[in-house]
Amino acid sequence: MNIGILISGRGSNMIAIADAVESGEIGGSEVAVVISDKSDAAGLGKARERGIKTSVIERNGRTREEHDAEIIAELRKNEVELVCLAGYMRLLSAGFIRSYPNRIVNIHPSLLPSFRGLDAQKQAIEYGVKVSGCTVHFVDEDLDNGAIILQRTVEVLDDDTAETLSARILEQEHAAYVEAVRRIAARDLWINGRRTVLIAEA
Ligand code: GAR
Repeated sequence: MNIGILISGRGSNMIAIADAVESGEIGGSEVAVVISDKSDAAGLGKARERGIKTSVIERNGRTREEHDAEIIAELRKNEVELVCLAGYMRLLSAGFIRSYPNRIVNIHPSLLPSFRGLDAQKQAIEYGVKVSGCTVHFVDEDLDNGAIILQRTVEVLDDDTAETLSARILEQEHAAYVEAVRRIAARDLWINGRRTVLIAEA
């Protein structure tokens, strides 16, 4: 399975997926391209160091549709079959989502549907939840809304700040994203409306 990864910044989830592909943990797959909408994204250098093809496609005042069309063209050129959003901080247009039905996944640093949008870890601290975590989900036209593939929990400690909680959630994100992509690559997932079920367990 050819994987395309979209990033905007640090790229640690992208690296977790790339390393799992490299080690054979995600069988029969390849990271075909890493695309960033920011030319200064730190993840770009890390991808290049690993010999992964990168591409910078900035928005440059264009409409979301025009920008997405160029990204889709780049994904198609690289024969991408699965799109992983990894800290990609832009909403996708409806056209983008229709181009890859059930083939775009995202990671979000909260237990959805709680704390959608930006600064999810800070939102969790301010709300006072005792447990948070991360969610890997398919992407649909609403923000942080598509069918959930898997979640991992993280306890919120009394002395946590947004930074300390984010760091512990991030560790779980890496494991969760690798496991979710592994299941998709192995075609082990069955999607039934909002529910995804492991075929082995269905
Ligand atoms: C991750 O914590 C990811 O869950 C979050 O951005 C960070 C990216 O880190 N994404 C979102 O908040 C999307 N709504 P990374 O660039 O090191 O993977």
